[in-house]
Amino acid sequence: MQIFTTRRELQQFALGAKRSGKSIALVPTMGFLHEGHTSLMDIARGKADIVIVSIFVNPKQFAPTEDFDRYPRDFEGDLAKCEAHKVDVVFAPEISEMYDVNSSTWVEETVLAKPLCGASRPTFYRGVTTVVAKLFLLAQPDYAVFGLKDAQQCFVIQRMVRDLDFPVEIIPAPLVRDADGLALSSRNRYLSADERRRALSIHQSLLGAKARIISEKTFAPAISEAVEKVSAAGGKVDYIEILDCDTMAAPDENSKRVILAAAAFFGTTRLIDNEIFEL
Ligand code: PAJ
Repeated sequence: MQIFTTRRELQQFALGAKRSGKSIALVPTMGFLHEGHTSLMDIARGKADIVIVSIFVNPKQFAPTEDFDRYPRDFEGDLAKCEAHKVDVVFAPEISEMYDVNSSTWVEETVLAKPLCGASRPTFYRGVTTVVAKLFLLAQPDYAVFGLKDAQQCFVIQRMVRDLDFPVEIIPAPLVRDADGLALSSRNRYLSADERRRALSIHQSLLGAKARIISEKTFAPAISEAVEKVSAAGGKVDYIEILDCDTMAAPDENSKRVILAAAAFFGTTRLIDNEIFEL
């Protein structure tokens, strides 16, 4: 496994690999890797000759009030996981290497990025699309794997790729959960044992709401009940909403696939989860 820390090394490597006819799959991450991340690496491994994993805690997607400074890190542990999952290249740049001091260009998707996390974190998705666009130009991937844990992120990236003609196929990967249903997240590390137990209410209330929506064919009562359940468990609900996956607007009679998405704070930790289903 090779480790690159400069943009030049990665881009030279990727362009050389492409010239010699090799296909590349990229898995962008912010590190502190868990089984959600390694499931993406396994999908990437099944797709391409070369698997590249990026590990970069991207300051441009954190607001000043957010957890950039305390975001969990474990570079040695991450490398061991990448090695165990047969990754060929890890790209782990410093911030000063990734962004020139006076960098002033952003890539922004303006519709799908607006609701849900985009509403509560208004500068988040432009940070994500900017860094992912750079990673695509550096790693030259034929495939890039994104988890449906962050389904809105995945849809925003798919739209960016379509609108800007990036020659890459986005592969959405299933959400990986712990045995008790909690969606795996690097941020679960922040939770106390008690908060973690109470946070199970997010997934449980989404499952309850999904069943009610499918049987009753109305949204509002099911969503209110879900909000109540998470609140009763001590969570501070940021949003629980149902949207059409293609438009990220309220579902209408033409909607097929919908996303029931939740974000809630337990203590100071903001967790997200979702269920995607057909109406
Ligand atoms: P990060 O939160 O580290 O997630 C990296 C990738 O792992 C994303 O595609 C995310 O959806 C996926 N992932 C995380 N937890 C998962 C789970 N439980 N099941 C399935 N997939 C999971 O998302 C980011 O980093 C950043 O925004 C990034 C795209 C790297 C841009 O900085």
